[in-house]
Amino acid sequence: MSSLHPSINYMKAAPFEVPATSSAAANNDRNVPSVEQLVLDLCNPDLRENALLELSKKRELFQDLAPLLWNSFGTLAALLQEIVSIYPVLSPPNLTPGQSNRVCNALALLQCVASHPDTRMVFLKAHIPLYLYPFLNTTSKTRPFEYLRLTSLGVIGALVKVDNTDVISFLLYTEIIPLCLRTMEMGSELSKTVEFLEAFGNTICRHLLFYMLSWLVATFIVQKILLDDVGLEYICATAERFFAVAGILSNMIIALAEQPSARLLKHIIRCFLRLSENLRACEALKNCMPEMLKDGTFSSCLLEDVTTRRWLQQLLHNVLGHRVAIQAGGGFDIVNHG
Ligand code: TRP
Repeated sequence: MSSLHPSINYMKAAPFEVPATSSAAANNDRNVPSVEQLVLDLCNPDLRENALLELSKKRELFQDLAPLLWNSFGTLAALLQEIVSIYPVLSPPNLTPGQSNRVCNALALLQCVASHPDTRMVFLKAHIPLYLYPFLNTTSKTRPFEYLRLTSLGVIGALVKVDNTDVISFLLYTEIIPLCLRTMEMGSELSKTVEFLEAFGNTICRHLLFYMLSWLVATFIVQKILLDDVGLEYICATAERFFAVAGILSNMIIALAEQPSARLLKHIIRCFLRLSENLRACEALKNCMPEMLKDGTFSSCLLEDVTTRRWLQQLLHNVLGHRVAIQAGGGFDIVNHG
């Protein structure tokens, strides 16, 4: 299963410089506070901003940060307070870069709790992910909001990374899918704009990279839901759900034909393949699967990727039958679930 690491690691440091507070400056050389001290500092409103910044930078160096955050007195409450304190600026959208940075540092710590095997399930049982849904529900296309959505998706992405039906059931029950679909939709709209194409031609600016990563993480979450039996059943339970998901995946395929991304294509093909394993969905795909998956549009994009090529072949085999699959796939790889 492909891993989320590159995108999540990207978020290690805040992208907007937050002016150093006097305590941050004082800590620089002489008395660098310990991780334990920084966790305690989270409960002190005057020291919290700096503690958030320092801890989110150190979170990968200190293995047991998650249990420390979870079990220490008042820490989770402080992190949740950071989160709810910006609800008022979500609508109408008024989030500043500084506020976005600060709350994203708090989210980075929650991601650490969501990733750790000892805290993942308690994190879920306490329904903490629900606090992030208002962030995923925003549509503002400014950078602070983009960063906020990407970081929030990163927390959910960390939760689904390890296969667990309880995690999937929680996400389904709390209706995460429409939120992911919205991010996926925004990505495919954006990819049609001139600004996006030009930025791709040169170096990708950070803003657009956030879009690409949000797109990728949202698709990864939907893929993980589909790979779960309960998730596949849920999505295929009604025609509306199925067509909402298949429609957005198809739009993404069209957007990708303009701007290929092998990584995203792999996730989308895996999603379609999984849908084709449900009988009713497979029937529906006979009519609504994008032509571009059948006509070899992506063969050059898949040259290096045997696994995805096999997934595509298996998909065509499931949907169109054996002969057509071999013609459309243009190859004779042994059809196999890689
Ligand atoms: N309440 C909606 C439903 O259960 C949630 C929803 C909207 C949804 N769009 C979706 C669920 C797409 C799955 C797929 O249908």
